[in-house]
Amino acid sequence: MNQSTFISGWYAILPSHILKNKPMPLKRFGIDLVLWRQNNHQLSIFLDRCPHRGAKLSLGKVHDDHIQCPFHGFRFDSQGQCAFAPEFNKPIPGLQARCFEAKEAFDMIWIYWGEGAPQPFEYQALSDIHTQFKTYSTIQKIWHSHMTYCIENQLDYTHLRFVHKSTIGRGFKMPENPKVVTGDQKISIYFNNQDVPATTFLFTNAWILNISQKMKLVLYFCPIDATQTQLYLYSYRQFLSQPIIKKIVDPLINLSNRIILKQDQHVVASQGTLPSYLAEEDRLMRHDQAIRDFRQIWIEKLINERIEPDMQNEYHAQFLRQ
Ligand code: FES
Ligand SMILES: [Fe+2]
Repeated sequence: MNQSTFISGWYAILPSHILKNKPMPLKRFGIDLVLWRQNNHQLSIFLDRCPHRGAKLSLGKVHDDHIQCPFHGFRFDSQGQCAFAPEFNKPIPGLQARCFEAKEAFDMIWIYWGEGAPQPFEYQALSDIHTQFKTYSTIQKIWHSHMTYCIENQLDYTHLRFVHKSTIGRGFKMPENPKVVTGDQKISIYFNNQDVPATTFLFTNAWILNISQKMKLVLYFCPIDATQTQLYLYSYRQFLSQPIIKKIVDPLINLSNRIILKQDQHVVASQGTLPSYLAEEDRLMRHDQAIRDFRQIWIEKLINERIEPDMQNEYHAQFLRQ
């Protein structure tokens, strides 16, 4: 595991509808997590390791709003505190499972990755889509790449005519004056002087494609570890949403999205398994502005989070030469 390749922030890690009522193991950021719900459905995320002697808590069960370890039956509350140890018939103060900040929003489970107090959870654009577009279908796919390369692929419109020449790239015309607007929290790309961005990446791992007023895509890039990324694609729409028709239309939309993602996966995997910001020999072009901005932000955040302040200038100079 190389946890230092992931910047701090909120990450969507799993569709909420996949987590049922029993503890679920999930590998993210190269570590084993366990996700579980109390009886009132409130979510907790722990390291999947009992603080007593290291058994996997995901092999245990939920018992009276606590997760119970399969090995010796110790029970932990939603904050990770040992609330009951059968062999002593009492709680053990200070015996604490490692727990993470967690949220559920837009049918996704989110975790805060990083030290210190979590940054604010601000995803108005995702909230708007999820509220306004009630009908959606989802697919998932694992790509064998660091999440940074998966994200850059979605900021790259010049590949459409080549990678997707048999599908969505057929007839795609290169925009004359694409505009890239980059901020701390998001990167948006505008085509042909339109007011609405064609596409927006939201730090830390969500991407929106505005296909039309009636159809949007949201893609989440969930890091399994430093070389594998789990993709969850939500296709939102405001048409053909009646339940019977939905059953017919969803598989067709999902099939077409699977074909498109497969076309991408093939070339993205060929870029290697390291994080994209280490590709110092890359020569980024005019149309790679969004990718250049993304790399810079990712590197700056990594440096600011992990390097002592008096060494930061040196690291910036080394990484931000382009
Ligand atoms: S290892 Fe979990 S209770 Fe002993
Ligand atoms: Fe693509």
